[in-house]
Amino acid sequence: MSGSTPHGGVLVNRFHPEADLAQAKKEVELDGFSLSDLELIAIGAFSPITGFLDRRDYESVVERMRLADGTVWSIPITLPVSEGVAGGLQIGEQVRLVHQGIVYGLLEVTDIFQPDKRAEARLVYGTDDTNHPGVKKLLERPDVYLAGPITLVKRTDKGEFASNYFDPAETRALFAEKGWRTIVGFQTRNPVHRAHEYIQKSALEIVDGLFLNPLVGETKADDIPADVRMKSYQVLLEKYYPASRVQLAVFPAAMRYAGPREAIFHAMVRKNYGCTHFIVGRDHAGVGNYYGTYDAQHIFRNFTAEELGITPLFFENSFYCRTCGNMASNKTCPHDADHHVALSGTKVREMLSRGEAPPPEFSRAEVARVLIEGLQAPVSARD
Ligand code: ADX
Repeated sequence: MSGSTPHGGVLVNRFHPEADLAQAKKEVELDGFSLSDLELIAIGAFSPITGFLDRRDYESVVERMRLADGTVWSIPITLPVSEGVAGGLQIGEQVRLVHQGIVYGLLEVTDIFQPDKRAEARLVYGTDDTNHPGVKKLLERPDVYLAGPITLVKRTDKGEFASNYFDPAETRALFAEKGWRTIVGFQTRNPVHRAHEYIQKSALEIVDGLFLNPLVGETKADDIPADVRMKSYQVLLEKYYPASRVQLAVFPAAMRYAGPREAIFHAMVRKNYGCTHFIVGRDHAGVGNYYGTYDAQHIFRNFTAEELGITPLFFENSFYCRTCGNMASNKTCPHDADHHVALSGTKVREMLSRGEAPPPEFSRAEVARVLIEGLQAPVSARD
């Protein structure tokens, strides 16, 4: 068999363009974050979830990283609305889910509840500090959660990412076509620097294929924009990766920056896309100093291999060592930090916006060129 079994056993499909909208008279406006969640639920990326979580599943996910039936799930998928909107709705009603005047879906309202968002922040993000971008977003969004099974009636516009957009059913078919039995998923919200390339290729030595799956949904303002990153992946793949071993596809989710909890979530979702393995390096999905370097690896100990159904591959902090003359980590290199080429994300970003390329031991020249051009061009001129 190629690939993995979907989380919960069955790949969810809730895209029904022919669904009858007549019963749904009221409308609920979605923000970009919820629209992306709606579509990811419908295409099965969030299997076994079939809708926005009700209080029972929500509390179970927040408190014990499991849905109420015990299935591993670490990030609550919720639909926040204002008290005013919630007040006009009733349990049992069908509502239209709308974004900027377009109806994308239907929700059968099964629950309406007021969450304790500070508690959610502390448990899911490990902090309720509003300087944390995920916490800030959580607290800024409205205060009541609407819940229930969804139906997607219209797909979102894939825009410039159309050629790299695949649903989980499609990636599963692609992996089978390529004859890959084992596939490692790689989550990223950054350009692929040498350290990323090193851990991807180390993983690829032991599996059949690499699924390079950059997140292109909402990220914080100082992350490198998705369109620029996509160009950087393309030049890198063209020149340095065997085409027969790599599949590039966008992951259209919003970034939560929830570190360890998000690592579990990222792994479950990649399992749904058909991956058998998933890379977790240093400070996966982390931000600032909120999480320990390897917390996102340690969290996997809470679950059995059977419950996860995807094998995490853990990597130490990687770097180029001048004395070894190659990429390495503390596991494979005996030299101290003076021998290593290491730069912080902030430092790299500063260099790139000044038009300065980081050293080739940190970033491939082709990648640096794309990033410099991309960061200097105004958004409208990036194509
Ligand atoms: S993330 O927020 O999507 O995790 P990023 O794109 O930087 O951020 O990381 C993608 C993956 O590469 C994560 O699994 C992360 O832990 C890993 N990673 C990033 N940089 C390094 C590094 N220097 N050494 C080891 N792993 C790394």
